[in-house]
Amino acid sequence: MYWFGLYHWRRRVRALGEGLVVAIAGIALVRRRSGRASRVLAAVAVGIGGTRAARTLSTLASPPPWSLERYKYDALARNLPLADAGRVLDVGCGTGRSLAGLAPRLPGSATVVGSDVFDDRVILGNGPRLARRNARQAGVAVEPVRGDAGAAPFVPDSFDVVTACRVLHDLPAERHGAALEELRRVCRADGAVGILELPIVPDAVDVSPERYWRTRVADAGLAIRTVERVPRRDGGEPYVVLVATPA
Ligand SMILES: C[S@@+](CC[C@H](N)C(=O)[O-])C[C@H]1O[C@@H](n2cnc3c(N)ncnc32)[C@H](O)[C@@H]1O
Repeated sequence: MYWFGLYHWRRRVRALGEGLVVAIAGIALVRRRSGRASRVLAAVAVGIGGTRAARTLSTLASPPPWSLERYKYDALARNLPLADAGRVLDVGCGTGRSLAGLAPRLPGSATVVGSDVFDDRVILGNGPRLARRNARQAGVAVEPVRGDAGAAPFVPDSFDVVTACRVLHDLPAERHGAALEELRRVCRADGAVGILELPIVPDAVDVSPERYWRTRVADAGLAIRTVERVPRRDGGEPYVVLVATPA
């Protein structure tokens, strides 16, 4: 079974703890006092605390840490020239979900590198070990490398395909340009850059995610080849998949 770590774990564990404390306090109150006011207060505490705890648990499990949700990576992979790729880089690979998602289309002979800042303050377990383990389970021997997307620790023109899945939105808007330029710099002139993004744009930006990423990608000197909106299984706004080549 895959294990992709717990996202936003600090915030969510805190919210879960708070909810449980309030609910338990309500239960304790009704056990100690029998008056009507106490019972009402206890019911309110159990209701509020229990709801908060249950909501937090459901966000921790959406998607569950073991779920791959391959369809979105498939949508990216089928637009990329992966069959002939000798060297593939997945920027912001994290715990390896995107590597496992792309795995069926990666040639067995390819050298696959995954880079990330591997910050486990946001994703519990984020690190080279989980990236390696999950990729291995999907049949990919990945080389994890610690590095920032805005200053990629690779020489120019060193990969045939460079991907960034659900990563760019994590960066402040003013760093999107530098990160995209890095994707272009490390990609061979005849290679391809593939981006899978969530349907969100920076605050105060009033364009669709598709338009936003199109513009940023073009500004970074990449020539857009395909753009696809990928419907989400949870019914939310579609993901954006973009494939471009170094112009
Ligand atoms: C939502 S996760 C996506 C992980 C994986 N690509 C996937 O599709 O599941 C975002 C990842 O981006 C990484 N990340 C955030 N800022 C980064 C940066 N400046 N450079 C490299 N990676 C970064 C995080 O550490 C995290 O692993």
